[in-house]
Amino acid sequence: MNILAFESSCDETAAAVVHNGRRVLSDVVSSQADIHALYGGVVPEIASRRHLEVICAMADKALEKSGLSRRDIDAVAATAAPGLIGALLVGLNFAKSAAFALGIPFIPVHHIRAHVAANYIAFPELSPPFLCLVISGGHSLIAAVRDYTEIEIVGASRDDAAGEAFDKCARLMGLPYPGGAALDALSAGGDDLKYPLPCANVSGAPYDFSFSGLKTAAVNLIHNSAQKNIPLDMPSLAASFSKAVSDELVPRFCGAAREYGFETLCVAGGVAANSRIRRDLTAMAQKLGCGLFIPPVSLCGDNAAMVGAQAYYEFVKGHVGATSQNAFATMEPGISFGAAKTDQVTK
Ligand code: KG4
Ligand code: ZN
Repeated sequence: MNILAFESSCDETAAAVVHNGRRVLSDVVSSQADIHALYGGVVPEIASRRHLEVICAMADKALEKSGLSRRDIDAVAATAAPGLIGALLVGLNFAKSAAFALGIPFIPVHHIRAHVAANYIAFPELSPPFLCLVISGGHSLIAAVRDYTEIEIVGASRDDAAGEAFDKCARLMGLPYPGGAALDALSAGGDDLKYPLPCANVSGAPYDFSFSGLKTAAVNLIHNSAQKNIPLDMPSLAASFSKAVSDELVPRFCGAAREYGFETLCVAGGVAANSRIRRDLTAMAQKLGCGLFIPPVSLCGDNAAMVGAQAYYEFVKGHVGATSQNAFATMEPGISFGAAKTDQVTK
């Protein structure tokens, strides 16, 4: 089954063709990061307009690169939640229209489930159940993936996402948006013990995270040193901050793996590209004697191949969208989009 998939939940317009959920025939991404860098963060209205400008070209490019024609496509998928509502609506409506025009099913996909599915592309041998640490610009959570479309959240951030914390700290350090990758690169060779930063515990919720205190501590450290005219050792600050984020995430993920008895662990989302977190996760998995799957950096950030991968498993379960399918700015990943309705177009 060949699925033409779209992702437009934030500032990447992406299209891909994926065969049977595992084999990527094409995968193209148009990033708006340079545009939003002018404002230090994503401007939702600008994101929606840019998606509109490029989505047709991205669809053509994905088809052309796949070597397939429109007639070879069996279904069209798009991220339908969560994300910036205007941005989501561009990809969703484009995909619904394409499915309607081609007379094939439309498959709505949850963005978090798609991030998890990036692992199915990278690791053909991987199948649920497993425990997945999903860390992105908008979400930080521990998900028990019981089956391809059965996900249970066992812990999550109470405030900011890990990516938001990285981006905020990077911005204060004068790094360009989105700063996570730049901060990571800067941390190489830094002393991770030079600037002790706080870790938070959420009482009564051992697998929940919090990053707002860490963010405030970094803000105060940077502002105080500027006021006192004391230069900061930037590589060491980057290394100390990365250590603090990793210390918040990895031990909790480890604890959840033990308590819930998972022997297979995965990681997903843009922040999964972070070198410190990848290192700490590898050491943790070795200690636990668990199998660990970390996708290549190219599959960690937002892309449409992961949407096409998850869409296949949603389709197998009958989770097909109606032509009235809406987008949602927020939605729990445990909820599946409805099964086929009567106005569903099928081949
Ligand atoms: O998953 P993603 O592409 O988009 C969302 O769904 O949010 O994640 C983007 C986030 C941004 O906050 C970005 O700074 C962060 O991932 N990121 C990193 C690294 N690469 C990307 N954070 C830390 N270290 C990295 N190497
Ligand atoms: Zn994402």
